[in-house]
Formats: sequence, C-alpha cells, structure tokens
Amino acid sequence: MAKMWSGRFSQEVSSLLDEFNASLPFDKKLYAQDIAGSIAHAKMLGKQGILDQKEVEAIIQGLQQIQREIEEGKFCWDIGDEDIHMAIEKRLTQLIGDAGKKLHTARSRNDQVALDFRLYVQEQTRELIALLKELIETILSIAKEHTQTIMPGMTHLQHAQPISFAYHLLAYGAMFKRDVERFVSSYERHNYSPLGCAALAGTPHPIDREETARELGFQGPTLNCLDSVSDRDFALELLFNIATMMMHISRLAEELIIWSTQEFGFITISDAYATGSSIMPQKKNPDVPELLRGKTGRAYGNLMALLTVMKGLPLAYNKDMQEDKEVVFDSVATGMISLKILIPLLKTMEVNRERMAQAVEQGHLSATDLADYLVERGVPFRQAHFITGKAVALAESLGKDLSQLSLEELRSVDERIGADVQERLNLFASMNARKTPGGTAQEAVADQIAALERWLQEV
Ligand code: ARG
Repeated sequence: MAKMWSGRFSQEVSSLLDEFNASLPFDKKLYAQDIAGSIAHAKMLGKQGILDQKEVEAIIQGLQQIQREIEEGKFCWDIGDEDIHMAIEKRLTQLIGDAGKKLHTARSRNDQVALDFRLYVQEQTRELIALLKELIETILSIAKEHTQTIMPGMTHLQHAQPISFAYHLLAYGAMFKRDVERFVSSYERHNYSPLGCAALAGTPHPIDREETARELGFQGPTLNCLDSVSDRDFALELLFNIATMMMHISRLAEELIIWSTQEFGFITISDAYATGSSIMPQKKNPDVPELLRGKTGRAYGNLMALLTVMKGLPLAYNKDMQEDKEVVFDSVATGMISLKILIPLLKTMEVNRERMAQAVEQGHLSATDLADYLVERGVPFRQAHFITGKAVALAESLGKDLSQLSLEELRSVDERIGADVQERLNLFASMNARKTPGGTAQEAVADQIAALERWLQEV
C-alpha cells in the first residue's frame, strides 16, 4: 500500500521500516484524544468557513463511527499506517471520501501528536490527583484512630524519641500533599493547546486557536508554535512527579516491610495483600510493599530515558520524540496501580499497639526529656546532656529503661533532680509534651489532621 506521504518517493519502503518506524502498536492508546482533537479542529474549520457544514458533519459522523469501531474491537489495525493519526485519517477517507482528506487542513501531525499526548497527560494527571487524595484520606482515617498509639520515633533506624503512630503516618500525609501540589502545578502550567501550530511555523489559513483550545478544555492556545511542536516538558514533569511520588511510596513501603518483620511486629499485613512461599509453608511475604519499592526503579528510568531523548534535539519535531510515549504510558500505569493497591493495603493492615508500646520501653526514649528537665532548672544544655548520659548508663547497668528508674536512683546521678521528674520521663508524657506546631503531641497532631482535611476540601 502506498504511504500517505509517498508523493515524492519512487521506491517501496523496506519491510523492516514499518516495524521500526511505526508507533501505531502503542499510540493507538491515544485514539480518543486524537478523535476529540480532530472533531474540535473540524468544527472550527467549519466556523471559519474553511470547510463547509456538510463536510464538517460528515467528518464528525465518520470520526464517531471510527471511535465505535475501535471500542467494539472492529477497527482494522494496519501497521503500515504508521501511527494512530494516519490510521484514523485513512479510515475516515474510506468512510466519507474526499471530505476526509480535508480534515488535515491547517494542521500537521506535529501539532496533532503534541495535542493528543498533552490531552492524555492532562487526563491522567487528574486521575492521579484523585487517587492521591484518596490515599491521603485513608492516611487521615487511620491517623485519627492512633493519636495515642505510642511508637519509637527513629533516626538512623535507632530508637530516638516517642511519637504517635498518627504522627508518623501524617509525615506521609504531608509528602503526598506535596505530590498533589506538584501535579496540580504542572497541570496548570501546561494547560494550553498546541493545536493549529501545524508543522512548526503556524498556518496561513484563518484558523481560530482560541476556539479549539476552549473546546478541548484548555486555558488557551500555546504561545509559540515552534516551541509547541518541540516541547515535551508536560510529559517530563509528569514523569518527574510520578518518580517523586513513587520515591515517597517506596519509603512508606520500606517501613511497612520493616514493621511487618518478626523483629518489629508493629503491623500485620492482611492476607489479601501478602503472598506465601513455594517451599516454606509458614511464610507470609510482604510482596506488595516490596514491589511498590521495586517499581520505583522503572519510574526513575522512564524519567531518565525521556530527559535523554530530549537532550540536544534541534527545533522543531524530530522523530526521536516518538520515544516519548511508551515511557509515559509505563509510568502512568505504574503510578496508578501502585496507588490503587497501597490504599486497601493500608486500610486492611492490623496495627499492633502493644508491640509498638513495648518497643518504646527500649532505648531510653525519654532521655531528651531528662536533659530538657535539667535545662529548665538552669543547667546548661551540654552539661544536662552529659548528666543524662550518666543516668542512661546507670539504667543500662540495672537492666532498666530510663523511664523506669526510681527517684533515688535518678538523684544519685544529680541532686538537682526533683520528685517532679518522673512524670516527665513517662513515655506518653514525653510524646505529648511536644505541643509546638508540627509536633507529636495530641493537640499538635489534631491540628495537623484538621489542616490536611481543610486542604483536601479546597484542592
Ligand atoms: N508518530 C509520531 C510520533 O509519535 C507522530 C508525529 C509524526 N510527525 C512527523 N513529522 N513524522 O511522534
């Protein structure tokens, strides 16, 4: 079959060319965006008197029929058509004849693909935002149950200070909030239509780019046609935003894995989201969080791949840019399924409060509180730190936690320690003493929950 662009060619193309050159096997995913863009373009051409109304109607009906054929699995895909744009245009011409050949007036595949892909990225961004919001809601509902579930807060994965499980979860709430904000900001930055930019320089036809932009849900047309057909920043930002979101998910996944070990036992992952071993009958493996952690790798790889494709490309469209789609499709699919499985995984996990509470009693977690107590009595902090170190050594030698030392034992380390110290060394008291904004005390955590809830309503 002769190619649509074969006018100036005299030899047949190599059979390998189709396989190497065609994007149809993967860009057929963009059929709905391509059809929506073409309908908006045809309507505008009609309004501007470039096509007559009969032609516009035939085009619209033809495109709608093609959409049905694709969705009902009746469309005849031919790799020789090269890409989704030409596959649809060829079928349109088969269906409606010469009017089909007029659709491409004042348009090029360069602005067409930029439009289709941007529409896809915008749609997926909206879905990712909705899923992230659902994840934050899930985190909030678990957090509300656990504002007094005490656990060891860690640095260097070593016990540091007592915090609540709610507080720990809300750290992820804050991260995922930033992710939503990043998606929203990219969405707004790129909500402009490249349609009508044609090959690179615009078009001499009297088209109305404002009209098609509005019709397709954009803020307006893009600024410069040469940039618009060359630009893939919208795809790169999506890849970066997904990579960063996956990095956050991987950190939570890592904690879920650690928390579900025999050594920690802080949580139990529901059987619905765990797997067994083919040889060891007793095993229950955290495959889901492991895969969440592992899939982060491909999200980074996809970002790196497209950054590298775009590096040093001269303006305007170059075929290199066809490599933009598969990486984005893969990152979108990875991000979506990761969010979709993380939400029920969190909802169904069991939180083992007793194990967390036991763990808090190991590691002298209220040591900072003893130092702070001494500081309040006029002891310089460095000295208070040293004295507390002595108290910790005493507790160690007695096989106790610092919070379990008697008043006499504490006073043997420093006379300035009074009877009021013990309520300060109580681990719950220590947790609830950190009342300043962003802290782990009950009131501070309640403020964080309220702030996130308010934000969810507004975003
Ligand atoms: N299949 C191409 C892509 O995905 C569409 C744009 C082709 N444009 C061109 N001038 N060859 O990038």
